[in-house]
Amino acid sequence: MKVRRATRDDLDTWGRLRLQLWPQIPVDALAGEQTAMLETPGRFAVFLCEEGGSVCGFAEASLRRDYVNGCETSPVVFLEGIFVVPEHRRRGVAGQLVAAVEDWAREIGVQELASDADLANTVSHAMHRHLGFEETQRVVYFRKEL
Ligand SMILES: CC(C)(COP(=O)(O)OP(=O)(O)OC[C@H]1O[C@@H](n2cnc3c(N)ncnc32)[C@H](O)[C@@H]1OP(=O)(O)O)[C@@H](O)C(=O)NCCC(=O)NCCS
Repeated sequence: MKVRRATRDDLDTWGRLRLQLWPQIPVDALAGEQTAMLETPGRFAVFLCEEGGSVCGFAEASLRRDYVNGCETSPVVFLEGIFVVPEHRRRGVAGQLVAAVEDWAREIGVQELASDADLANTVSHAMHRHLGFEETQRVVYFRKEL
């Protein structure tokens, strides 16, 4: 298992995995996000995990300077997305990806790693706890059309 930073050469493979995690987001929007992330490596870091010559998971992290619920310092690194292909799950891939995000956060002098998960995504909750995250808050978002 090898974890490395994503490059332009990974756009297609990484993009296919992103589509599995966020099928509700239009393909063009997903592609635009990828380009933006690669163009601002000081603000975003994307890690891919390879096993047996194929990419089996990714983690995306960003440096957030705005208020992040539950954190005590600023800026913090935020785990924006993590996905492992079903056949490779429960083998520590997410753990390796999060470890790479933590290394990046420490390298840039950040003291807290934050994340979120849907209330119903109990697998993600279990993963976060297993990897040393503590739950801070449960929130409900609202919107109003103007
Ligand atoms: C969540 C996800 C990234 C975990 O990836 P993974 O590579 O299987 O995770 P790991 O193997 O590193 O597991 C770490 C720990 O998380 C917990 N965990 C992971 N999957 C679990 C499951 N299905 N049920 C219960 N606990 C689970 C376990 O404690 C596990 O440790 P263990 O296997 O030693 O018991 C993966 O299931 C996934 O891609 N899910 C769909 C996308 C998603 O929900 N992403 C998170 C959005 S916030």
